[in-house]
Amino acid sequence: MTITAIAHPNIALVKYWGKRDIEFNLPSVSSISMTLSQFCTKTSVEWDTKEDQFILNGDIQTAGSAQKVFHFLDRINLARPPCVVVSQNNFPTAAGLASSSSAFAALALAGTAAAGLSYTKTELSVLARQGSGSASRSIWGGWVRWNKGMQKDGSDSHGIPIAPIDHWEVCMIIAVVSAQKKSTSSTIGMQQSANTSPFYGQWVETAEDDVQNAEKALQARDIHTLGEAMEHSTIKMHATMMTTRPSIRYWKPKSLALIELVESLRTQGFSCYQTMDAGPNVKILCPKEEAHAIAKHVQKITQCHILEPGPDAYLC
Ligand code: DP6
Repeated sequence: MTITAIAHPNIALVKYWGKRDIEFNLPSVSSISMTLSQFCTKTSVEWDTKEDQFILNGDIQTAGSAQKVFHFLDRINLARPPCVVVSQNNFPTAAGLASSSSAFAALALAGTAAAGLSYTKTELSVLARQGSGSASRSIWGGWVRWNKGMQKDGSDSHGIPIAPIDHWEVCMIIAVVSAQKKSTSSTIGMQQSANTSPFYGQWVETAEDDVQNAEKALQARDIHTLGEAMEHSTIKMHATMMTTRPSIRYWKPKSLALIELVESLRTQGFSCYQTMDAGPNVKILCPKEEAHAIAKHVQKITQCHILEPGPDAYLC
């Protein structure tokens, strides 16, 4: 049986960086995200084939990414038969555009259904988390909080939808500085930060306040308080990255130019705020009615996409 699922990537407003457990992929901090429209991963899983095969964006994968996918399917059923997984992203893979979030959310949904299992969304989120932490948030559309949880087995570390897709008319402008594969993967980078950054302890200690402030502002549709909390979480995460040994710096000159543009647009009356992940691309949160005018300024520096809140992951 072949089953196909679609999931949308999400962008963290309050960031996840660091793990309290590597085996179960449990975060040291809770986080909040917005699921994106338009960008998506479409994944088909054929259960019970001749041999395991993983095709990503038209190319057969043999190395680490294939291993990760098949190890993930083992979590659904350790005694599973061989499977063929075909996955397509309609946006650049592994460039800090959150492709692993939509990838493992789509794989969790398609994989369980292909195995004849019917998981709740919470169970899917727990499963997706074990493929990639941020994927636990892409099971839902709109806005999602991922609680770090307390349990050793991670059963309470999953996404929780906190506002639906139509809660608020905002946009996330994705300014694409580079579509190249990132130099240091998030998984490796966050481990190095935990082991070596002198800022790591404070990053973890102060994260819960950011989550609470951001969630309150989100519920109140207060873009200034939410934007300020998002920028603060972003800068703290990048400070932790930069003070890792060896230093992890995802910023490029154009990233800084975009950060300065966002600040300057604010002084001109726009309500825009920036965030960055494990890559040089800059994402700008703003009210929907300001998005086109802001994008015009961004395009003087680099190409961009205007995205809105996106939907839950779904079976096709
Ligand atoms: C900077 O979810 O890719 O985008 O759990 O190791 O697969 P793993 O990490 P991943 O990390 C995302 C980190 C981030 C911030 C965020 O999305 O919260």
